[in-house]
Formats: sequence, structure tokens, C-alpha cells
Amino acid sequence: MNITKLIIPAAGIGSRFLPITKSIPKEMLPLSNKPAIEYIVQEAYDAQIKHVGIILSPEKNVIKEYFQSNTHLDKILAEKNQEYRVASINNLIESINFSYYYQYNPAGLADALLQAQNFIEPEEFFAVALPDDIIFDSSPEILNLMHIAQTYKAMVIAVQEIPAEHISSYGVIAIDQQINDHCYKIASLVEKPAQQDAPSNLAIVGRYIFHHDLFSYIPKTSLTTSTEVLLPDTINLMIQQGYSVYACKVKGQRFDTGTPQGWLNYMLNHSNF
Ligand code: G1P
Repeated sequence: MNITKLIIPAAGIGSRFLPITKSIPKEMLPLSNKPAIEYIVQEAYDAQIKHVGIILSPEKNVIKEYFQSNTHLDKILAEKNQEYRVASINNLIESINFSYYYQYNPAGLADALLQAQNFIEPEEFFAVALPDDIIFDSSPEILNLMHIAQTYKAMVIAVQEIPAEHISSYGVIAIDQQINDHCYKIASLVEKPAQQDAPSNLAIVGRYIFHHDLFSYIPKTSLTTSTEVLLPDTINLMIQQGYSVYACKVKGQRFDTGTPQGWLNYMLNHSNF
């Protein structure tokens, strides 16, 4: 099984960062001197993934511009012998094929993924990474999950132990079976449960390996507590239909840069920049 594509959903309105996200996409906020989304594309590159599909809203085309070459800037930098300033982003631009898809109404993560279904072939497994979750590890987190998916020929979700008082900000797994020290077979998932209803302390962090079949189950998912289809509900439906889904704990250090506090935490931890 070969996993060669990554989808990055980046169409949300960035409500937790308003008002700056009125005109600057959350994914373009700087972590040191790079936008958050570049770390995700770099992780894909490090995992040998060469096809990246980004889901945007029409107001967020600055993300698309960032991943296009800027020959005018390159020429000015070349004259000053300062090409090194853009060497790493230019390497990503040259190495990766970018495709763009649009979500016109912010109807949640499952609906966003559905917009990119033509990016994936039937029977293909693919990776998804949420740009809020920046993970540093000796090997890229996406690659760790790809190995598990290849071993079990199944879908895999990254999880992390989260203190009880923060669990209601996450999707949370219920364990069917522990496979080894860091992997579990999932019984079911629940999106953002109240602290007392959380089925475990294992929260979904934004890395997934999915199968193309996911796209056919999103429209079949019934709306339970929300007005939008929740991705964990779609995965529950697939588990009920006999799909095996695994969860593996992230090995690296994770920063949740999707909130101003988490963003600040990242910046303070990297203050030697
Ligand atoms: C999303 C997912 C949630 C997951 C979280 C990880 O929520 O819906 O299941 O636990 O990312 O960061 P969001 O943070 O976008 O509200």
C-alpha cells in the first residue's frame, strides 16, 4: 500500500484568532519566520509525500500565492546573494505538486474533506493533517502513521493523552483493544465530549490516514448533536460497517497553535530564534 497524497484542510474562518484572521488566514500566522502551514508541508516532504491538496475558502488565496514561485523576489535576492532566505520554501515549491479545492461555506472538517474527493483515487489511502497541530519528531508524524496503516492495511488516527480539564476541546477515542504500548484499535469516537462523558484521555490530534471510502460515508452520516457532519461520527459509521480503525499516540512534541495561547506557547518555546 502506497500513501502518496496529503490533504490539508485550511478553509475555516479562524474564529479563535479574530480579528486578525479577518484578512490574514490563521494558517499564515508566523511561527518564527514561517507560516504555520509551511511546517505541515515540510512534514509531508519529509515523509516523501509529493502531492499536497489544500482546501481553501475563496478569501484565503494568499495561501496559494505563498506556495507559488516569486521570480521577481528571487531575482532581487540573487543580486544580493541572499537566495538562502527563501531556499527552503523554494525547495518545497519545486518538489511538491500542489492542488487546491474550495469549500464555499464553513460547514466543518468532514464537509471540507469532501471538496477534495477527486484528489484521491478509489481504493487509495491518503493522509490528512490539520495545520493547527505542529508536531516535532525525529521522524515525521505522518510517516509514523503511514507505517501503522501499511502494517494493518487500515485507517489510523494520531492521539495524545490530554489532561481531563482540556479533553472537551478534542475528539476523543473509546478503546476496543490495546495493540501495543502506543497503539489501540478504536471502538468509537466522540467529538468534544463534556469532561465527565469522555470515554478515555486519548484525544485526536490533527493527523489521520484515511481510505477513499471515507468520502462515501460522509454524506451518509446522520447529524446527531450538531448541524454539521462531524468527522468522528463518519468514522463511527465506518466502524459499525466493519472497518478497522487504529489510534496511535504521537511520539513527538506537539504544539496546538490553533489558539492564541497555544501560539504564544510555541513562540516562547522557540524564543532563541
Ligand atoms: C479538530 C477536530 C478534533 C481534534 C482537533 C485536534 O478540532 O475536530 O477532533 O481533536 O482538531 O486539534 P478543532 O480544534 O478544529 O476545533
